[in-house]
Formats: sequence, C-alpha cells, structure tokens
Amino acid sequence: MVVLVVSVGILGLLHDSWPHATQAFWINIHAMVGLTVWILLMARLRWRWTHRPPDLPPDVGEFSRRFSRPVHLLLYALMLVIPPIGIVTFIYHGRSFDFGLFQVDFHVHSNRDVFHPTENVHGYVAYVLFGLIGLHVLAALWHHFIRRDGVLLRMWPAAVSKPRDLGQHH
Ligand code: HEM
Ligand code: HEM
Repeated sequence: MVVLVVSVGILGLLHDSWPHATQAFWINIHAMVGLTVWILLMARLRWRWTHRPPDLPPDVGEFSRRFSRPVHLLLYALMLVIPPIGIVTFIYHGRSFDFGLFQVDFHVHSNRDVFHPTENVHGYVAYVLFGLIGLHVLAALWHHFIRRDGVLLRMWPAAVSKPRDLGQHH
C-alpha cells in the first residue's frame, strides 16, 4: 500500500504537467490506483478490526504513546476520505472510468461549480496526508536508528521480525 499511495500521490502532483493529449489517460490511471488503494484500505480495516498490534515496548516514551494512535487514525481517515472526493471530482469533470476490459460512464455533464471546489479539497487533503506521511516516516526512522526500540520491525511480517507477542490471540 505504501508503493500505491506514493504512486497515486506522484501521479496526482503531475496532473497539470501532462501534454493535453495524454492528460485524460493519466488521470484515469491515477483514478485506478486511487480506487485500488481505497479497496485495499477497506480490506485492511476489516482485518485490523480484529487484529490488535502488540503493546508498545516498555521503553517507548509518554509522548510517542500519546501521539502515535491519533496520528495513525488520521492516516487511515485521510486515506478513507481522499478517494471519494476524487471520484466526485472525476465524475463532475465529465470523465468516464476506463477499467481496460470495460468502461463506466455516468453521463454527467462537466460542471465547474462542483469539480472545482472538490478538486481543491481533494488536493489539500492529499497534501495533509503527504505531510503526515513525512512525519510518520521520520518517527519510524527515529525509533529504528536512534531509539533502537524495535518498533519499525513490528511492521514486517512475523517471519522477518522477531516473534511477536500476540497477546490474547494465543
Ligand atoms: C489516496 C488516494 C489519492 C491521492 C493521494 C490523490 C492525490 C491527488 C493529488 C495530489 C491531486 C492533485 C491536486 C492538485 O493539483 O491540487 C489529485 C487530483 C485529482 N485526483 Fe486524486 N488522489 C487519490 C485518489 C483519487 C481517486 C480514487 C480519484 C478518482 C476516482 C481521483 C481523482 C482525481 C482527479 C479527477 C483529480 C484532478 C485532476 C485534474 O483534472 O487536474 N483521485 N489527486
Ligand atoms: C504511504 C505511506 C504510509 C502510510 C499511509 C502509513 C500508515 C500507517 C498506519 C495507518 C499505521 C498504523 C497501523 C495500525 O495500527 O493499524 C502505521 C504503522 C506503522 N508505520 Fe506506517 N505508513 C506509511 C509508511 C511507512 C513507512 C515508509 C515506514 C517506515 C519507514 C512506516 C513505519 C511504520 C511503523 C513502524 C508502524 C508501526 C507503529 C507501531 O507498531 O505502533 N510507515 N503506518
């Protein structure tokens, strides 16, 4: 999902740079990757609902304990709301989804009064996500290289990281 979120973000930032002839193509690719992120996020949230991460190592400080949860929640929330705002922008720009094998056209006339504000909001919220991801990655690297508390290794599959304490899931 990291690769997909970074890709969809870069494609988003490039929207105004494509030659006019290929712009619709690239915006459709952006939409496809964005929809994939959204569907994977749904699957992840379903799984996450029943799979609690292990407790933080005891030497993790008060500040990290207090702020990591709201930041992670916000990362999830942003990934959740950005795609639907993108879908509204896409449709009200009169665009149709090209899934390769089939197309989905809502036959909506391009309406600037709708797509202009939603495009702005979609972009601004995406910038907030990028900023938060930057902060999140810095925090992960700080845990790994400076605090050396093993928090980063917890994100890898159990086979690569040390055996996890699964708590109540024994
Ligand atoms: C997590 C997923 C997504 C991220 C991070 C993202 C990010 C972005 C960014 C950064 C921009 C440029 C905004 C600007 O220049 O102000 C953008 C534009 C746009 N995005 Fe997304 N997007 C996502 C998902 C989607 C989805 C699912 C759709 C549609 C199905 C979509 C449709 C659009 C459209 C139509 C534009 C405006 C393009 C234009 O006409 O210039 N996005 N997006
Ligand atoms: C698109 C970029 C990223 C997004 C949207 C993202 C989002 C998230 C979210 C939502 C969580 C909470 C997981 C949960 O409790 O369900 C999380 C955890 C974590 N992320 Fe990321 N992440 C991204 C990139 C990265 C990168 C590049 C690193 C490493 C350098 C990283 C390191 C971590 C670590 C170590 C945790 C676990 C924290 C813990 O065990 O409490 N993330 N991430």
